[in-house]
Amino acid sequence: MLYKFYQQHIFPHLLNQVMQTPALMDLRRELLLPVQGEALEIGFGTGLNLPFYQNVDLIYALEPSTEIYQLALDRVHHNPFQVRHIQAGAEKLPFADNSLDHIVSTWTMCSIADLDQALKEMFRVLKPSGTVHLVEHVLHNENRRIRQLQHLLTPVQKRLADGCHLNRNIEQQMLEHGFVFTEKQYIAAKGIPAPGQLMFLARATKSAVNPV
Ligand SMILES: C[S@@+](CC[C@H](N)C(=O)[O-])C[C@H]1O[C@@H](n2cnc3c(N)ncnc32)[C@H](O)[C@@H]1O
Repeated sequence: MLYKFYQQHIFPHLLNQVMQTPALMDLRRELLLPVQGEALEIGFGTGLNLPFYQNVDLIYALEPSTEIYQLALDRVHHNPFQVRHIQAGAEKLPFADNSLDHIVSTWTMCSIADLDQALKEMFRVLKPSGTVHLVEHVLHNENRRIRQLQHLLTPVQKRLADGCHLNRNIEQQMLEHGFVFTEKQYIAAKGIPAPGQLMFLARATKSAVNPV
């Protein structure tokens, strides 16, 4: 009961604050500049990406948590383009096959319970010419000490941060689902503790032939 109270009434406010760390806001800016027209954002959170879209007409804001989306409402109402909330998980996307030009994920793939199923769905709904734009904290392949810490802390992190895994190799998992990277970089984000510091900022398509 106490845990439910934490999840519903405390965690959404912590999330809203932590996700505004300046290094993360800089990464949002870099990631979102090329997104145009209509885009699906998975794990919309508290709407912190909205100010960084420059040429967007409509965002499908997929967010399963009522309490978290509640904290996005003010940003949504003061936003110059349309935002349509979809209350669902990424494991079952309510979109037709090959229908979306852009899918955005900012620090969401760590939290999706069944990431393999969500990646299958993202691959299904993305147009052959479409792009997935992502920035995620990931497993540290190059530093054994940090990697061990990430494995050790993940069970605690999952409890404290709504299912968040510190130890996912997102690049590998996306490759296994057929995505092709047209751009990718690993960045150590300033001001973030070591187990969550390594960021993977990338763009991926369903084939190398039609990158945006
Ligand atoms: C760390 S937060 C990131 C929020 C936001 N993308 C941002 O950049 O601030 C992770 C988000 O993923 C959402 N989430 C959790 N499970 C999900 C799922 N199965 N499908 C889609 N989103 C999910 C959470 O509710 C939360 O809003």
